[in-house]
Amino acid sequence: MKKLMAANWKMYKTRVQAEETIKDLLRLLGDLPSDREVAVFAPFTALDACGRALPYDACRRAFDSSDACVRVHQKASGQPAASFFLGGQDVYPAAEGAFTGEISPGMLLDCACRFVLTGHSERRHILGESNEFVGRKTAFALEAGLDVVLCLGETLEEREAGKLEAVLREQFSAGVAGVPGDIAPQRLSLAYEPVWAIGTGRVAGPSEILEAHALLRDILRKKFVAQADQMRILYGGSVKPDNASQIIGLDNVDGVLVGGASLEAESFSRIVLA
Ligand code: 13P
Repeated sequence: MKKLMAANWKMYKTRVQAEETIKDLLRLLGDLPSDREVAVFAPFTALDACGRALPYDACRRAFDSSDACVRVHQKASGQPAASFFLGGQDVYPAAEGAFTGEISPGMLLDCACRFVLTGHSERRHILGESNEFVGRKTAFALEAGLDVVLCLGETLEEREAGKLEAVLREQFSAGVAGVPGDIAPQRLSLAYEPVWAIGTGRVAGPSEILEAHALLRDILRKKFVAQADQMRILYGGSVKPDNASQIIGLDNVDGVLVGGASLEAESFSRIVLA
């Protein structure tokens, strides 16, 4: 299973800044190891600029008779292979309609996105998204052909009250309620992001990460059975160039989701190559 090294740019970067960072990343990550994939979750307004900066047809899609999503990645000669993907930070669970301010899965696909985040803690806690709404987004985005990274994680109060397992189980079961049990494993990933470690500089320790990821693997197995071991579980929360290699080496850590340290190409590329 390839590790997914993901950048979440949150509400940062104009189109020009985003395009420059993508170009710098492509230069710095020319020799991407074959066991790594990179995803950049750019703001909606910069996705098109980012897609155009990629040296290949980032994500041309076709649908076969069973409606499974087939991706055709074209590699320009001498350019990095198609292991560099774009993603949206959020999505609305409808194909189109009167939903002012929202973005549909089709719009993300149209901007060359392969991925979308659902359930990021900033959307749960600042925008008030419920577990049930996150679940609707997850199912709808997958059905529409996007690959989903479903984010979950506990607050400090929940952890201190001994509710880690209950919170993760609840977020998971509502988050994947509409997802078929036989979904292809590369289409759904989890990102464990303890809220107390996001943007705080307080990274979760190895034992905290091991515990949560083992629990999530176990939870995944209950729903997805044999597929579960092929699903990626990312860690997010104060990942930096100097702690990335330790984190990525832990059992059941199949990638990272990086906020602050992903904004600079130099810093994020060191994490990707850690
Ligand atoms: P930081 O890396 O800034 O802690 O953010 C983590 C995050 O929220 C990624 O989605």
